[in-house]
Formats: sequence, C-alpha cells, structure tokens
Amino acid sequence: MKEGTKFKLIILLLVFIFVLALSGQAVNSQGQFTKVFESGEDFKLYYYLAGDVVSFKIESKTLGFVAIGFDPSSYMKDADMVIAYVKDGIVSVIDAYSTGNFGPHPEDTTLGGKNNILSFKGSESQGVTSIEFSRNLDTKDKYDKVITIDKEIKIIWAISSSDNFDTKHSKRGSGVITLKSSDSTTQPTPSKTILKLIIGSKKMLVNDKEVLIDVAPIITEGRTLLPIRWVSEPLGAQVAWDGTERKVTVTLKETKIELWIGKSIAKVNGVNTQIDAQNSKVVPVIVDSRTMLPVRFVSENLGCDVGWDDKTKTVTITYPKQ
Ligand code: HEM
Repeated sequence: MKEGTKFKLIILLLVFIFVLALSGQAVNSQGQFTKVFESGEDFKLYYYLAGDVVSFKIESKTLGFVAIGFDPSSYMKDADMVIAYVKDGIVSVIDAYSTGNFGPHPEDTTLGGKNNILSFKGSESQGVTSIEFSRNLDTKDKYDKVITIDKEIKIIWAISSSDNFDTKHSKRGSGVITLKSSDSTTQPTPSKTILKLIIGSKKMLVNDKEVLIDVAPIITEGRTLLPIRWVSEPLGAQVAWDGTERKVTVTLKETKIELWIGKSIAKVNGVNTQIDAQNSKVVPVIVDSRTMLPVRFVSENLGCDVGWDDKTKTVTITYPKQ
C-alpha cells in the first residue's frame, strides 16, 4: 500500500474513533447516574454515590406517584419507602415506612423518626415521571434502612396512575440491587431548590420552571405574604392547619414553626419569636379564604436564603442556604 493511502486510512480511522467517542457520550444522557434496575418502561432506577450520600433517580411511564422501598422483611412490611409525585411542576416527596404487610406506610415523622431526604427534584413530561432524591447511606433513623455498598439490597417498587399517596398501586414489583463502590464520584450532591416569586404575579419559578399559583404574593406592612403551600411543597416541608386555634404549623426536618392568624409572635421550635422585630403589624392573615404567611420569616427559619429584587419585585428563595 502506498504511503499516501496509508496516511489517509489512519486519518479516517482516527475520525471514526472520535465520532464513536462523541456518540457514546451523547447516548449516556443520564450524566453521572448508573442504571441499577429496570422493569420495562414502568420502573427504571439509577444511582450515584458521593461520599456517604447516595442519589437515586427513578423514571417511570406514569403520571401518578412512583415509589421505592428498601429491604422489606415480608411483602411491603418494614420497607423503608420514598414515595413521590409531580403535580403542576411541583414535586412532592415523602420519607415513609411500611408498618404492615400491605401498608399502611406512614411518614417517618409520624412514627417518631425524621424526614431524611437531603434534596430532591423531579419532572413530569410526555407521560414520564422522573424523580431524583438523595440521602445518607446510613441515616441512623430507626425508620430508614442502611443502604449497603457492594452488597445486595432487596427493593420493592410501585407506581400508580394517581398522585394520591394513599391510592393503591396500579403496578408493583421487586428486585435486588447492588450499588458498587467503583461507581463513586467525587462530585458534590446536586440540587438546590430555587423559588422565584413576583409580587402580584400568579406565575412562580421552581428551579427555572414556570408553575401557576392560585393566589399571587402580596405586600402588606412592607413584607411579602404568600399562601405557604407554594413555598413549602417544593422544599418538602409539611403544613398543618388547626382551625380551632387558627394556627399553621410548618415542619421541615428538625424545624417546626407555629404561626397564628393575626398574631405577631410565632414559635420556632417552641421558642416565642417576633415575626418582624421592626413591625408588630406583620402577622399571618386570611385573604380570600387563603392563609397568607410572611414568606421571609418562614423561609429563613426553615434554613433558606431569601433575596429581594426591588426593581423586578421578585423574592428569591434558595434552599438549602449557600
Ligand atoms: C398506597 C398504599 C398502598 C396500598 C393500599 C397497598 C396495598 C397492597 C396490597 C393489598 C397488596 C397485595 C395485593 C397485590 O399484590 O397487589 C400489595 C402488594 C405489594 N405492594 Fe403495596 N400498597 C401500597 C403501597 C405500596 C408501595 C408504596 C410500595 C412500594 C414502595 C408497594 C409495594 C408492593 C409490592 C412489591 C407488593 C407485592 C408484595 C409481594 O407479593 O411480595 N406498595 N400492596
């Protein structure tokens, strides 16, 4: 073979290898996630490890909830569950535990444990729900199982056509997974939740995604008030209403905030705290039968950074803090 032809062949080969490498990267659209379990289109499970934190991603062809349970003792019993859904762009995730063979599976917090989900995000698009969440391998919580590395763990999964956590699954299954230490990454765990709310606007942004809200944020006494569910749900906080006391309780991880309609003093983990030290007129109010809470007070006490842009009248809430 002539020298020139040889040279051309080598160049062609190099171009071929280069194109192959590029296409390989494009195919790996799951980024740093590695697939560890699959049951057709119904349930795909990916993970990655970073130190003592594991991040999972579930993908499922459903518009209802998706759920995973770790290490059941029999049927569903004693499974450490994470159940999640996306509705109107808002992701709801619970850390639950099945106390019986076929439920119930109350939240860990109801049983005396903690919500140990460190971060989560998700989307629902073209009939596919995708949920990511991270947690410590060993949360030290009685209602969480230890996620082992290089050792088999039994899992159960379920999906539903409904978002209601209490609706029975339409499909379910089980399997065995092994998370490998060789899949560890040094990259930090992802996902901050960033909410942007504009005064007077019924559109908010949750991680840059537009979400329609039923009541726009308002300013009274120089403070922004908002129906709290729009802030609490994306952060994974729970909100309870006590009609007799006219009290709202917002709980996120170890923080519990109690606020009363018309009262300028709230309780943060049982300690009386003035909602606004400069203005005692800043109180929770009811507007159009919606409870409107002072956004800054609640968000800051839940461990968020709160920013205000006067020009665009935008409140930016970042969780967790920098
Ligand atoms: C929402 C409330 C739930 C109810 C009322 C419920 C109820 C039941 C019932 C009655 C069965 C036995 C009948 C059957 O096989 O379909 C069952 C089985 C099963 N459930 Fe659930 N379930 C619930 C949530 C979940 C969740 C969240 C998961 C997964 C994380 C799950 C995983 C399973 C699995 C894997 C089985 C089969 C167990 C076996 O036969 O070994 N379930 N469930």
